[in-house]
Amino acid sequence: MRPVVVLSGSETVRQALVKQGDDFAGRPDLYSFRFISDGKSLAFSTDQAGVWRARRKLAYSALRSFSTLEGTTPEYSCMLEEHVCKEGHYLIKQLNSVMKRDGSFDPFRHIVVSVANVICGMCFGRRYDHDDQELLSLVNLSDEFGQVVGSGNPADFIPILQYIPSSTMKKFLSINDRFTNFIQKIVTEHYATYDKDNIRDITDSLIDHCEDRKLDENSNIQMSDEKIVSIVNDLFGAGFDTVSTFVSWSVMYMVTYPEIQDKLHREIKDTVGQDRFPRLSDKVNLPYVEAFILEVLRHSSFLPFTIPHCTTKNTSLNGYFIPKDTCVFINQWQINHDPNLWNDPSTFNPERFLNSEGTEVNKVDGEKVLAFGLGKRRCIGEVIARNEVFLFLAILIQSFHFHKLPGEILDMTPEYGLTMKHKRCHLRATLRAEE
Ligand code: HEM
Repeated sequence: MRPVVVLSGSETVRQALVKQGDDFAGRPDLYSFRFISDGKSLAFSTDQAGVWRARRKLAYSALRSFSTLEGTTPEYSCMLEEHVCKEGHYLIKQLNSVMKRDGSFDPFRHIVVSVANVICGMCFGRRYDHDDQELLSLVNLSDEFGQVVGSGNPADFIPILQYIPSSTMKKFLSINDRFTNFIQKIVTEHYATYDKDNIRDITDSLIDHCEDRKLDENSNIQMSDEKIVSIVNDLFGAGFDTVSTFVSWSVMYMVTYPEIQDKLHREIKDTVGQDRFPRLSDKVNLPYVEAFILEVLRHSSFLPFTIPHCTTKNTSLNGYFIPKDTCVFINQWQINHDPNLWNDPSTFNPERFLNSEGTEVNKVDGEKVLAFGLGKRRCIGEVIARNEVFLFLAILIQSFHFHKLPGEILDMTPEYGLTMKHKRCHLRATLRAEE
């Protein structure tokens, strides 16, 4: 009922999102998007260009300040490193005790709490216990959110389906309500204890911005307090689901390819050793870990399409006329599996990113992987996400040897959605120190 342009091919996507960036920077008014953050989401709403740009700038600068801030002790290079190392430590303890108790563990269930705690630390200045039911009921869900907002949700394109009862839609609405209530409660607590001279976290910094009643210098746009403070909903939502899905997929790939897991462990053992945690500064000396991360991003393409875009004016692309307000899907999966860009694209092979000696990552090939979008709507959490995934993985690889349960076959078929998840499963982890 609504025409959609689907863009594939690296050149075409770059032409649209980078060279004609402003023309393709809108979001379509889709039925399902109206329920996210009461329609006030930064990532999914149809905000006018000026309002969206001002909110994006605010979100980006809050995120940058609270991740690059100095750690509380000199052993950490920044707050992000401190949060991840501390959560990595709890995660190791948690997995170890679950293994002792149950003999197996569900990777996503535990990883998601650790990852959520990192963004909770930056957004709300607090963390939750691994068994905290309130947090678990928000983050440890089967993925109705991703299924409804993934490109091509039928009810967004065939309006009659909006009136037909759907259990997925019901769960989606309930997730959105619980999510908004959870954050609203924390924001209210922050307003009550806010102190201009002690900005504790991203929520405080957004409240501070409202108090100052700053105008955006470029566009003179005045936004409501709600539109400013609700930015924290986007940062928390985008910050936990994507990174935990990525780390969880990485563990699945290591179990599926044990020889690759051994190589990863050997590199960390030889470079970092077993006596201290890996740090961000180790990244340059761990090319195989870097190559593995790029290959998981490429091969899984767990964000197969970006969030849908829409044209902001009449435009044309590759000689085709595209009217204003046309919905546009960006096919990241196709670019990451294009045989014109990749040799044998369906094979999982981290070495494709390394030079022949295996000592360096080929930057040009790394940049061909499309996972964070491009241009004006490109992910604002990319640097944080890449650092976070690197540290979590390096910590897990250093501490554990992951295996599948005897006799079980791992199902790597992804479940379609905005972020594609692997099927929930149980694995084993043994401490390297006890091997
Ligand atoms: C592996 C992790 C991540 C991946 C693969 C990822 C990927 C993406 C993609 C594909 C988009 C949509 C781009 C488009 O529409 O063209 C996006 C948007 C966004 N991401 Fe990420 N992301 C990740 C982590 C994060 C993190 C950690 C944060 C923040 C803490 C974040 C915040 C956002 C926001 C706010 C947007 C909306 C930007 C806008 O609409 O202007 N992301 N991300």
